[in-house]
Amino acid sequence: MTDADLVARTAAFVEEKFADEGSGHDWAHIRRVWQVARALAAAEGADAQVTELAALLHDIADWKFHHGDDEAGPRAARAWLSSQGADDTLIARVEEIIREVSFKGAGVATPVSSPEGACVQDADRLDAIGAIGVARAFAYGGHKGRALHDPSLPVVQHGSFAEYKTNSGPTINHFYEKLLHLRERLHTDAARRVAEQRHAFMEQFLEQFLQEWEGRDLQNIG
Ligand code: ADP
Ligand code: NI
Repeated sequence: MTDADLVARTAAFVEEKFADEGSGHDWAHIRRVWQVARALAAAEGADAQVTELAALLHDIADWKFHHGDDEAGPRAARAWLSSQGADDTLIARVEEIIREVSFKGAGVATPVSSPEGACVQDADRLDAIGAIGVARAFAYGGHKGRALHDPSLPVVQHGSFAEYKTNSGPTINHFYEKLLHLRERLHTDAARRVAEQRHAFMEQFLEQFLQEWEGRDLQNIG
């Protein structure tokens, strides 16, 4: 099988698997991460096949939907790739990227071990910010039955993955606990350039949201 065949078959497999997903981890998210990771890999001179396979498989069995099991993703990726006859070196590189991709709390470093891992992590994080990031955060919060906002619940800067995983705060807190940190934690220059405007948009969104929440824009009613 050629490299292109394996990528195409993986894309078809993931698209089918995610057809009914409504939590913001849908095929459209995966496709964007795939396309952005591919573009970052070209800019960075990273290996295209490894980057594309890892991007396509990065959420295949996310810990958020597998009782906090952070080995479920690498395991599912391995099972798929070995069913396709991929060699072990390739599988191990993809597994490592998936193991490293997730955000694990504001106080937890998430280093990557390869240029391909940098491209996939950056692509996933670019999709968590900006207008799409805002939409995905509320889609995920709705899926989990979270409040939009509750000013009585403090923002927590999680110092361990265990704490981050069990957090159930309102969605607005998630911006301060994760999304506003992402711009500073990107690896590639190209992703940093894209993040500038997306980050500024989120700040503007939060300012407007809090203005409406607190009724500060109601002076003109009477
Ligand atoms: P990661 O693996 O880094 O968490 P994903 O691709 O799995 O990234 O995407 C997670 C998505 O779910 C993001 O858009 C993120 O904002 C959203 N999300 C995760 N946790 C929460 C939360 N507690 N509240 C709202 N949205 C969340
Ligand atoms: Ni993702």
